[in-house]
Parts: sequence; C-alpha cells; structure tokens
Amino acid sequence: MKNVRIALLGLGTVGSGVVTILQTHAERLRKQTGTNFEIAGILVRDTTRSRQVDVERSLLTTDIARIWESKPDVVVDAMGGLVPTLGYIEEAIARGCHVVSANKELIAVHGARLHALAGEQGVGLLYEASVGGGIPVLNTLAQLLNVNRITRVAGILNGTTNYILTRMEEDGLPYEAVLAQAQELGFAEADPTADVEGYDAFHKIRIVARLCFGEEVEEEVGLREGITSVTAEEIELYGRLGLRVKLLATAERTKAGLRVQVAPTLVPHSHALSHVKNEYNGVFVTGDVVGDLFFTGKGAGMLPTGSAIVEDIVHAVRGITFTPETAVATQAVEIKAGEGAAEETGLEIAFFSLKHKDERGEFSLLSFLSGEAGVLHGVETVKRNGQTHVAALLSSHDRAVSRAFAHHIGATVRFRELLAEPAPGIAASPVTIG
Ligand SMILES: NC(=O)c1ccc[n+]([C@@H]2O[C@H](COP(=O)([O-])OP(=O)(O)OC[C@H]3O[C@@H](n4cnc5c(N)ncnc54)[C@H](OP(=O)(O)O)[C@@H]3O)[C@@H](O)[C@H]2O)c1
Repeated sequence: MKNVRIALLGLGTVGSGVVTILQTHAERLRKQTGTNFEIAGILVRDTTRSRQVDVERSLLTTDIARIWESKPDVVVDAMGGLVPTLGYIEEAIARGCHVVSANKELIAVHGARLHALAGEQGVGLLYEASVGGGIPVLNTLAQLLNVNRITRVAGILNGTTNYILTRMEEDGLPYEAVLAQAQELGFAEADPTADVEGYDAFHKIRIVARLCFGEEVEEEVGLREGITSVTAEEIELYGRLGLRVKLLATAERTKAGLRVQVAPTLVPHSHALSHVKNEYNGVFVTGDVVGDLFFTGKGAGMLPTGSAIVEDIVHAVRGITFTPETAVATQAVEIKAGEGAAEETGLEIAFFSLKHKDERGEFSLLSFLSGEAGVLHGVETVKRNGQTHVAALLSSHDRAVSRAFAHHIGATVRFRELLAEPAPGIAASPVTIG
C-alpha cells in the first residue's frame, strides 16, 4: 500500500482536527484511497504544552530542519500568519512537497506567486479550509468553472461577526455587549479586529475572486467595512422593512468590471443567506449555466476545518488540483465587454439619525425622502436615546444629494446596499408626513 508522509506546521485548533481525523478515520481513508497516511513530524512553538490530541511526543519539534529531515510528501500549514510561514511554504514547494493550507491571509496575499512556484515544481497547492472552513467552496467553484462563467459569489464568510449580528438582532443588545459575550463563549478573539473590521472576510473573498475572475484584488480603503458601525436601531428598522443586515463578502462582475467588497449588506428575509445564523457561514453562488447555488455549514472549528484539510490531502495525492489561471483569460475579456454581469437591485437604504427634539428636521427629512431623494419604497422610524432614526429604502438615489441634505438639517446618514430585492409587498410601508 502507498504510504504518504504528512508534516503538520501547527498543532492548535486546526492541526488537532487534522490529527484527530487521520487517527479516527484511518481505516476509511485507506479503503477509499488505497493509501496509508502517516504523520511524519509536527512543528510547534512549545513542545512541552499539553495538547488536545494524543500524539507521539517525539513527532513534536520547534525546529523546521527536523521537519525537512522527516521527508514529508505533504506539508500542511495549520499555523497561520505570514512570517515565518511563507518561508516554510516556499521551502516545502521547492522540496517537491504538496502544500495544503488553512491560512487565508497567506493565500490571499501570496497565493498567486505560490501557485506559480507550485506549478514550476509540479506539486499541488490546495487551501479549501481557508474559505468557509468545512464548506466545500473553492473545490466546488473550481469544478463549476469548467463549464460556468461565475457572475457573483456572495458569502457570510466570518462566523464571529455573523454570531454578533444574530445576537444583536435576536436579543436586542448593542454591539459592545454582544462582543463581550462572544469573547466569553470563545466565538471572538481577545483582539477581535481581524473579524469585526472585515479583514478576515476580505482575505477570503480575495481568494475567491482570484479563482473565479483571475484578478488580484488589493486591499483598498472603502472596499472593506466591518460591523462596528452597525447599530441596534438599524437592525430593528431593517427588520421592519423585511431586511436583515449581514456582513457579506461579495465578488461579482458588474457592467463596470469586477467588484470585490466586504460590507454590512441588507439581505431580504426571503433570501437563503438571511437564514444563516450565529457562527454558521453561507455562500451563494451564481453561475451562467447552473444558476443559483447555496451552501451553508460550519465555517470554522477543529473538525470541519480538519475535514477540509484531509480532503485536500487526498486531492493532492490523487493529483487533483486547480490553478487560478484556469479562470483567467476568457473572463477578463468578458468582463470588459460587460457580458454576464450580476444583476443589480438599484435599491439601497439611507439611514438617517437626527436629534430627538428636532421635529422640523424630521418633517423636512420625510418630505425630502418622498420628493428629491429618489424613488421611496419604504420608510421606518424609531426614537431612542435622544435621537430619531429613519431608515429609507430607495432606488434611483444619489448619495451625494442625501449627504448634502443630511448635512443641511444637522443629521448623519449612512448607506447600505441590498443583495437582492425584497419579496413584493414586504418593503412597502406607506410614507406619512406630519
Ligand atoms: N480555528 C479555525 O477554526 C480555523 C478555520 C479555518 C482556518 N483557520 C486558519 O488556520 C490557521 C491555524 O489556526 P488555528 O486556529 O489552528 O491556530 P492556533 O490554534 O493558534 O494554532 C496555531 C499553531 O501553530 C503553532 N505555531 C504558531 N506560530 C508558530 C511558529 N512561529 N513556529 C512554530 N509553530 C508555530 C502553534 O504552536 P503552539 O501550540 O506551540 O503554540 C500552534 O500549535 C490560521 O491561519 C487560521 O486562520 C482556522
């Protein structure tokens, strides 16, 4: 029977999941693949720490040279970060090892070059676990791309922020209170920046965009917004308009070209993504032939992520791998021609906050909304903590005009986009003035 030697870089949550699956599913893996999978070495920072899994202590090392001496066939990046990880992965490829990674940051930033190196060496570079944890997103997209032009991928790709938004809505609590709860329960890190500011989701959507559209997307201001600005009042008013706010990572072809962003986005209650709750992830894919597809599941955790990694190890050994180049050439031309663009709703929400006692301001805002703001499809108001908040669902709307008007009446305004149109009749509250 063929023997495949695996070196693990890291034995934390993900590494422990991989070891557990290789131990508990060894027989099944042997039967399915005709291969015996053996752990050759495990790189950690501290060999004396207690571990979540039983491993032979002699396999643990803090010295990367010992990993190379163990002659691995596959190197698994379950340690994260860019340094020293990038150097180790380059070395693994140069030594002719297949690489399987859960590290979205590394793949988002250096994936294109690592693919080139892997291509030169004829080894696999697979990273299903880096996007959506246990949900088979990347391998499925790669398979779809053999036939389909992908129009749009929209996903809830960060479990921490989805948990926070769900609890804010269902428990009616403010952001800070829910974040503290999530940290206690282990759903959020002590430093939650990477999650709540959208960096984590942005890494993931960059990887998706490279695969589906063949483009490198740089991290630019304005394209990435997290959830720290989302208020309990917004969530309440959007709910009344038949909408739920989700931190959506979106990569889509528009008539103007590729658009990649992470932002709080409104999803109608009738849309599958609005029902992805708590720490779950969900991905909605639209292809020109296959139509709409929806996947959901655990986007993180020891076993779901471990499963994605072990599946990739099997793929690597079987020679099943994908390169982003498969998508590139034709897609670029099609985008320029504006062909196969995602359908846009043309709808958005303008959310105004003004002083509680400012009844004149409120009156003129409602007149503005039913007149110059654009086409008004629904409006909801709530008064809380000394402020009046007004959410207006608009189309044919010019943000600059609303911004200028808000400034004129001393209010603040923020805008949120809609993923899809609400079901007919849901967002049709009549506007009453006075
Ligand atoms: N957690 C998830 O559910 C999940 C899901 C999808 C993707 N990922 C990604 O998977 C990667 C690992 O995440 P994780 O949650 O498993 O992290 P983790 O629990 O913090 O584990 C990291 C492991 O890497 C080792 N390590 C870190 N830096 C090292 C260094 N410089 N030299 C040697 N060993 C080092 C640590 O050693 P010690 O144990 O000795 O400290 C630890 O075993 C990250 O890129 C993460 O984004 C995680």
